[in-house]
Amino acid sequence: MKAAIINRFGPPEVLEITETEKPVPNDNEVLIKIKFTGINPVDTKVRAGTSGMSKNLRLPAILGWDVSGTIESVGKNVSEFKTGDEVFGCIGFPGLGKTYAEFTLADPKLLTIKPSNVSFEEAAAVPLAGLTAYQAINEHLKISAGQKVLVQAAAGGVGHLAVQFAKLKGAFVAGTASGKNEDFLRPIGVDQFINYKKEKFEDVFKNADAVLEAMGGEILYRSFSCVKRGGRMVCLPSSTKNDPKAIELAKQHDVELIWPMMHPDGEEMKLIAGLLEEKKLLVKIDKIFALDDIIEAHKAIETHSTVGKVIVKID
Ligand SMILES: NC(=O)c1ccc[n+]([C@@H]2O[C@H](COP(=O)([O-])OP(=O)(O)OC[C@H]3O[C@@H](n4cnc5c(N)ncnc54)[C@H](OP(=O)(O)O)[C@@H]3O)[C@@H](O)[C@H]2O)c1
Repeated sequence: MKAAIINRFGPPEVLEITETEKPVPNDNEVLIKIKFTGINPVDTKVRAGTSGMSKNLRLPAILGWDVSGTIESVGKNVSEFKTGDEVFGCIGFPGLGKTYAEFTLADPKLLTIKPSNVSFEEAAAVPLAGLTAYQAINEHLKISAGQKVLVQAAAGGVGHLAVQFAKLKGAFVAGTASGKNEDFLRPIGVDQFINYKKEKFEDVFKNADAVLEAMGGEILYRSFSCVKRGGRMVCLPSSTKNDPKAIELAKQHDVELIWPMMHPDGEEMKLIAGLLEEKKLLVKIDKIFALDDIIEAHKAIETHSTVGKVIVKID
């Protein structure tokens, strides 16, 4: 089968298209014929060798965790799915999902049926970013009706989904992005749009119950001025975990600071699938690349300015 692999860590150019063996499911796995895979910033960090996950990786490796496609075959103990079912999910994380390929194996518990009114493109765009946003808003920040939330990088893959999950909870949502993204973000739930290129978010938004922080460093430090005492903050980039300055600021401001790790979850995927089906959740696709252009897909993510998600067409 055709796949994109890396033989070493490095710039996007280490990604190469090759022929590899089609995998065979064990008794408890399904084989998926992939239609689309989603690209996430973590893919680029693993590829570069800068992610904590890189050190456990045996090379050559097929990257990728987000998948939409059809069930090609099932192991003999699998009762959840049958050949031909249209599915999507985030698989393998934090091990290898191996979705930059024509076929991949998956634990059926991590998959869910793709609603018929949701495209394969949308389905591949959602899983990792959607689960991250869902878990941040509901499990870590525990947002409830009437609370004030700040979503940093609101136009990003995680951010635009987090805005909608917070809105579904009945929160007042502020979001930071550059001015060009205001018209995208207001209709999906941003009550207070903050153009971070023109104003300092800490000057215009105070007393938040919670912040979803997506950048780390100075933006993380400045975000403490927006949260009330006893509030919560989630910081997404794992590379910033245990930053001593952030831990000290959290103490000073009496803020619970959490560095979460997204975990794949089939039950939560079902919930997200339901929201997509009912059109209560919108996923924005910025660009679709061919598998042959996987290097360009990684370069696009590394601009840190894509709106919503970048996906790759496999079939
Ligand atoms: N811990 C976990 O389990 C976990 C899971 C998923 C993601 N993450 C991490 O979370 C981070 C965000 O992921 P993502 O997929 O949402 O990234 P992304 O889609 O690549 O984010 C791109 C967005 O960032 C915005 N942005 C860039 N600089 C900004 C700034 N100074 N202020 C506000 N917005 C800014 C851009 O908006 P403009 O163009 O308008 O500037 C763009 O829309 C990444 O570091 C990722 O690795 C962690």
